[in-house]
Amino acid sequence: MDHFLYRDGQLYAEDVPVAEIAAAVGAPFYLYSTATLVRHFRLFDEALDWGPHLVCYAMKAASNQAILKTLAAEGAGMDVVSGGEYARAKAAGVPGDRIVFSGVGKTGAEIRAALEGGIRQFNVESEPEMRVISEVASAMGVDAPITLRVNPDVDAKTHAKIATGKSENKFGIPIARAREVYAEAARLPGLKVVGIDVHIGSQLTQLEPFEQAYTKVAELTEALRADGHEITRLDLGGGLGIPYARSNEAPPLPTDYGALIQRTVGHLGCEIEIEPGRLIIGNAGLLVSGVIYVKHGEGRDFLILDAAMNDLIRPAMYDAHHEIVPVKEAAPGAELSPYDIVGPVCETGDTFAKGRLMPPVAAGDLVAFRSAGAYGAVMASEYNTRPLVPEVLVHGDQFAVIRPRPTFDDIINRDTIPEWL
Ligand code: LLP
Repeated sequence: MDHFLYRDGQLYAEDVPVAEIAAAVGAPFYLYSTATLVRHFRLFDEALDWGPHLVCYAMKAASNQAILKTLAAEGAGMDVVSGGEYARAKAAGVPGDRIVFSGVGKTGAEIRAALEGGIRQFNVESEPEMRVISEVASAMGVDAPITLRVNPDVDAKTHAKIATGKSENKFGIPIARAREVYAEAARLPGLKVVGIDVHIGSQLTQLEPFEQAYTKVAELTEALRADGHEITRLDLGGGLGIPYARSNEAPPLPTDYGALIQRTVGHLGCEIEIEPGRLIIGNAGLLVSGVIYVKHGEGRDFLILDAAMNDLIRPAMYDAHHEIVPVKEAAPGAELSPYDIVGPVCETGDTFAKGRLMPPVAAGDLVAFRSAGAYGAVMASEYNTRPLVPEVLVHGDQFAVIRPRPTFDDIINRDTIPEWL
C-alpha cells in the first residue's frame, strides 16, 4: 500500500496534488512519501517483534539525508556498502552502533574510518578482507566486530544481475568452507566474531529461497557454536521484492517473512538483523515526468518524456517494468492505446516501455512512474549533461525539495581546466 492515490481526478502524494509540486519544482523529479516510507519500515520492525532485532535499511536503495533522518527517527539502523554511505549515515545522525558495513571490497581506509567513527559490525566477504580488517584494527588497538557473509549456494529466482547467493557469484565465503574461515577469524588479532551474515539477492518474490538459505544458516550456527564460537547475531540480508506490475504480482508480505525467520532461526536466541532496501523505499517513490512530444512513427506511436534512462536506469539495465500513470486521472472508460514510452537520450536503450497501453496523453501532460523510490535517484547520472533530477519529500500536506536540481553552471564548474589550456 502506498500514499499516491487519485482524488478528484488528480494524483496526490499524501495530501498534496502532484501537479502542484510539479508546478513549483519543474519536471522531472523524484517524489517520496514519508507516510509510505515509515509504514514500510514499521512493517518489518513489527514482523520481527517476537525477539531482539534491528532493521538496518539498505541505504544503497535511496540515500538522501532526509530519507535517512526519517528512518533513523523511527529507530532504523543502516546497512552501508562504502565509505561514502557510512559518511552519509553518520551525517544523518545514525549512531555507529546501528551501522553495519557490507560490501565485497572494503578498503583499508574505509575500514579505518568506520572503526574511528564507530561500527556495529563488518560483514566480511572474503579472507583477504578479513585479514585487512584484522591488521587495521590491531594497529588501532581495537577489536573489530565481524560476521562472515556466507554464500549458501541458493538460487534466489530473481534477475541474474541481482542474484547474489549462488556459488558462481562474487559474494561471500562458500558455506562449506565457513568453519575453516571462522577458525582463522578466531586466531587473528583485532577481530571479534559476533555472528553470521547472508544475503542471497534482491527482488525476491518467493519465500522458498530465503527458507533454504536461513535453514543453512541455522545449521551453521549450531556447528560454529560447537566449534566454540560465540554467535549472538544473525544478519539475514535484504531482498524481499515488491509488486511492480500491480495486476499480477503479489510478493510475500513482511509479516510472512518475519514468521519465516522465526521458524527457521528463532530458536537460536540470536539478535536478528535484516537489511531491506527496496521494500522500504520502492513504492514510497515516484518519478514524475512531463510529456514533451507525442510522435506518430511507422506503425507505432511514441511518448517522448523529459525523463530518460539517466534518471531511471532500471528498465534499460534490468528490463524492469514500472507502471506509468497519468497525473490527471483518465476519464472512466477512456480508450487505451499502445505507446513506446521513451526518453530524449540518444540511444535506443532509452526506452521505458514498449507498446504500453495508455489513456489519451498530450504534450505538456504529466505522468508518474510508480515504484521508482528504490534504485532510482541513486543510480541516476548526468549522461547527455542532463542535470540530476531533484528529489522532493512529502509529509502530510507539506512538501520540501530535499535535493535541488543543479544548474548547468553547477555541472560545468565541477570540471577543472589544466593550466596548459
Ligand atoms: N544487503 C546487501 C548486502 C545487498 O547487496 C542488498 C542489495 C541489500 C541488502 C538490499 O536489497 P533489497 O532489499 O533492496 O532488495 N539496482 C538493482 C538492485 C541491486 C541490489 C543490490 N543489493 C535494482 O534496481 O533492481
